[in-house]
Amino acid sequence: MTAHRLDQIAPFRVMLLMERAKRLEADGLRVVHFEVGEPDFETAAPIVAAGQRALGAGHTKYTQAMGIPALRERISAFYAETAGVTVAPDRVVVTAGASGALLLLAALLLDPDDEILLPDPGYPCNEAFVGVVNGVAHRVPVLAANGFQLTAADLLDAWGERTRGLLLGSPANPTGVVTPRSTLAELTALVQERRGVFLLDEIYQGLTYGEGEGAPGYRTGLEVAPDIFVLNSFSKYFGMTGWRLGWMVVPQECLDGVSRLAQNLFISPSSIAQHAALAAFDQDAMAIHEARRLRFAQRRDRLASGLRNLGLHIPVDPQGAFYLYVDVSKTGMDSETFCWRLIDEYQVAVTPGNDFGDHLAERYVRFAYTTGDEDIDLGIERIGRALTDWGMA
Ligand SMILES: Cc1ncc(COP(=O)(O)O)c(C=O)c1O
Repeated sequence: MTAHRLDQIAPFRVMLLMERAKRLEADGLRVVHFEVGEPDFETAAPIVAAGQRALGAGHTKYTQAMGIPALRERISAFYAETAGVTVAPDRVVVTAGASGALLLLAALLLDPDDEILLPDPGYPCNEAFVGVVNGVAHRVPVLAANGFQLTAADLLDAWGERTRGLLLGSPANPTGVVTPRSTLAELTALVQERRGVFLLDEIYQGLTYGEGEGAPGYRTGLEVAPDIFVLNSFSKYFGMTGWRLGWMVVPQECLDGVSRLAQNLFISPSSIAQHAALAAFDQDAMAIHEARRLRFAQRRDRLASGLRNLGLHIPVDPQGAFYLYVDVSKTGMDSETFCWRLIDEYQVAVTPGNDFGDHLAERYVRFAYTTGDEDIDLGIERIGRALTDWGMA
């Protein structure tokens, strides 16, 4: 009954783990959640208040398909203020989350059988966006030895006759690594020489805690290559996952196509969410986002040192997002077995590497530090107990 393209669309394993976690909680057990890629903080109060005002003011109708002009202008101003980059407001397209932007870009850019290069490991849903327009997702392994960075050689090796472009995330899910500007410059130049498209997912932008390239600050690949496609979202740094709002920056010549697709596929992004998001850039809200970023930075350090003290290997220090990509091969278990045993026997939920690709996926699990210090400590203690009980400590 269903279309063949469904064969290419894998279930999101983390959802299965979350279901198991919910069942255990319904049985009265306390579960430590390291599986959820969603900030645990509520949306900042000034944004919620703006959303409530929007409802009161009757902003409950469709808006312009590409977003309300005030928000497109505000996002454009944000690029100027934070990164010193000029982005014309009409190049900013407001979408239903980065997910909406990914669907629009897949429909805009891919003909059937066109291939898009995706780093492996990477964000799992990207393959579905490519598959749903009958494109082909070509996974390119990124190696721990290269800091989980895609190199120019990787790109050149993978580029084939049907390759249409590259979709890269920085900071990346699940590895948390930030692509250096020099690498971005090199990769964008190579893609553009091949008349390909370069899509940069900056959904974790602003959530950086490292040094050098990964230092705090709201940087963007648009500084390096002004005419790439950039995706972003109010979900992560701005803590608005449930509002379903994001944006993208597209080259001027694509605006007509994007506009036609957005009108037909979505009519408009949520009006209430857009009016609420206007407040996300105000000083009071930004102070809250910044305080939360600092909390994430502390959690990253707390969780990373706790896991390392247990002897687990984190091959590359993540500089951003809210994830650690941890090698659990020393347990002698593949990562999926490790995850299911950990949730069932010790009520700690983490996501297996095979949610993010194939390459050495059986070695890795992703920890999200989207949970408070008390749970981080409890999780470390329980994993320590598990390793001892399993004879691996
Ligand atoms: C790398 C990446 N891109 C896109 C998304 C989609 O986010 P949203 O649709 O909430 O903006 C996510 C969600 O986790 C993600 O991790």
